[in-house]
Amino acid sequence: MDLQALLDDLAREAAPFAAQGKVADYIPALAAVDPARFGIALGTVDGQLLGSGDWRVPFSIQSVSKAFSLALVLARDGEALWRRVGREPSGNPFNSLVQLEYEKGIPRNPFINAGALILIDRLLSLTGDSLGTLRDFLRAESGNAALDIDAEVAASEAGHGHRNAALAHFMASCGNLENPVESVLHHYFRQCALTMSCADLAKAGLFLANHGLRADGSRLLSRSEAKRINAIMLTCGTYDAAGDFAYRVGLPGKSGVGGGILAVLPERGVLCVWSPALDAHGNSVAGVEALDRFTTRTGWSVF
Ligand code: DON
Repeated sequence: MDLQALLDDLAREAAPFAAQGKVADYIPALAAVDPARFGIALGTVDGQLLGSGDWRVPFSIQSVSKAFSLALVLARDGEALWRRVGREPSGNPFNSLVQLEYEKGIPRNPFINAGALILIDRLLSLTGDSLGTLRDFLRAESGNAALDIDAEVAASEAGHGHRNAALAHFMASCGNLENPVESVLHHYFRQCALTMSCADLAKAGLFLANHGLRADGSRLLSRSEAKRINAIMLTCGTYDAAGDFAYRVGLPGKSGVGGGILAVLPERGVLCVWSPALDAHGNSVAGVEALDRFTTRTGWSVF
């Protein structure tokens, strides 16, 4: 199969789908991104890296970062995490407040915002520097030592982060935060503001396709832990659209409101797609479409 030709076709076909979505504007700095951007990259476990369109242009990874945070916490802390966060699909928006109250401050899963705040809180306790730990990991796995946060996006989100602050304060009131709310939010806003390209992400996520092995061959996660993260990505990675994503794409995926989606092809590689215009659930419209077309044309899915 000519994978390069396939990625080029997907990049060419994206425009009408991007036109159906809307760039996130609740974080004002994200509203300035050109909705016509489209990139797609495929990193393979045997070391190939292919891409098309804007695949080398850095974008705000936002919630895609949560897949990596989960890996770093599970690697250090194992199953203890599950006392503080669930692993069921939420069926509610990623920043919902209501569910958290009736579930007594235990977030439904680690990928909704409340759950990600728990990941960061724990990584902060375990390492003293949640953002630094994540950034070092992403730099090592992607091979991009210059990878960093976009300070303007971080400040923009911090200035408009009332919902995340509300979620964090509520969890603190339930006794489910170990660190001060301000520290957890500080690290959360900055980690969401990390900028990476499709190429960077397609390389950084390879441990998920490779049974937990890092780029240097060392083990981050056991086979079983890597399987579990993929399972949570499939069931919860695209929020209240996870069922539709599984139906259409058939791969574990993690989206972000910057328009990126990382999808795992177990034992083959990682696909990363970026198109900033989002649907009502916060997932990239052209990104989901491209992944749908990729798995349909290659037949590569987990099903
Ligand atoms: O906290 C927020 O709202 C954003 N920093 C991240 C949300 C996000 O990316 C949800 N994904 N689709």
